Amino acid sequence: MPDEDRELASKAVSQEEQALDITLRPRLLKDFIGQEANKEQLRIFIKAARGRGDVLDHILISGPPGLGKTTLATIIAGELQVNIRHTSGPALERQGDLAAILTNLEPGEVLFIDEIHRLPRVVEEILYPALEDFKIDIVIGKGPGARSVRLELPPYTLIGATTRVGLMTGPLLTRFGVSMRLNYYPTEEVDKIVKRAAGILDIKVDDEGAAEVARRARGTPRIANRLLRRVRDYAEVEADGVVTGDVARKAMEMLQIDPMGLDMLDQALLATVIDKFAGGPVGLKTLAAAVGEEPDTLEEVYEPFLMQLGFLKRTPRGRVATPRAFKHLGRDIEGGGGSLF
Ligand SMILES: Nc1ncnc2c1ncn2[C@@H]1O[C@H](COP(=O)(O)OP(=O)(O)O)[C@@H](O)[C@H]1O
Ligand SMILES: [Mg+2]
Repeated sequence: MPDEDRELASKAVSQEEQALDITLRPRLLKDFIGQEANKEQLRIFIKAARGRGDVLDHILISGPPGLGKTTLATIIAGELQVNIRHTSGPALERQGDLAAILTNLEPGEVLFIDEIHRLPRVVEEILYPALEDFKIDIVIGKGPGARSVRLELPPYTLIGATTRVGLMTGPLLTRFGVSMRLNYYPTEEVDKIVKRAAGILDIKVDDEGAAEVARRARGTPRIANRLLRRVRDYAEVEADGVVTGDVARKAMEMLQIDPMGLDMLDQALLATVIDKFAGGPVGLKTLAAAVGEEPDTLEEVYEPFLMQLGFLKRTPRGRVATPRAFKHLGRDIEGGGGSLF
């Protein structure tokens, strides 16, 4: 995979955080907080498949990082009482990589392909018959003596996860029987997630403290868990160890996370659009260079949340800061961008 992709994958979740993800991962559908419509669908599909003794349809789960895609995949396998094998789009470089995994599946197992939009096209092609007919065609040998062999696969369920459903091809998309989108969680649900994590990690947090963390977690469980631990550190060193509202607010100030959950990069990004480019429009690459981030990271991690808050718009000519963003950053709207609205 290209270097910048590698960097993005590692930047998104540190190793420490991966371990935390696993510790805090709910194991059962009933412990997965929120996403009620998706959960209800899954509950029915899982029950029906189990009742018929059938495999579950292939499922695609899309949504921004940290909203529970990997968690859901693991839960689905758990509820089906089958094994789950993890791989990712970028890890499957050649057809043989995927063929080896597919032919080694046990009947009924779940194969999880994370970042499925990064699957190389040649690898994606052998996935089509593998999804549709549980068959793959592999070429044995080279040159004139090469021949194609068709292998039968055991019935299995593929669960694909993606942060960029828009980058997926039509033929791949149509081969998923179920497609579900995870959206940012409302604050009340993040609040429950914070309290659940605090219980598991034995962190003392009161209602107001949990609410402060939840409010700034950008509707994202992974960020909620991350903030909770940072706030705990602060509470232990600067207070008596209890995360109260006051302690949480002070900790967030130290971490430079503002009351809407914008971190330094979010703030820098908006400030750049407003101050350096008169509110925009400014192209993605120019903006990325100006804030010192990868364009992919801006597009996958930062922009969706800023757009959700109504602070940023993507237009054909580039990114534009909205009047709300001007207001949030305390900028005078006359200074720039005004003509665009
Ligand atoms: N609905 C949820 N309820 C409780 N915890 C959740 C939920 N969704 C995600 N999490 C927590 O957030 C962390 C990140 O979730 P993960 O499934 O790894 O996200 P993704 O794969 O979408 O990036 C997990 O460790 C889990 O603890
Ligand atoms: Mg994941």
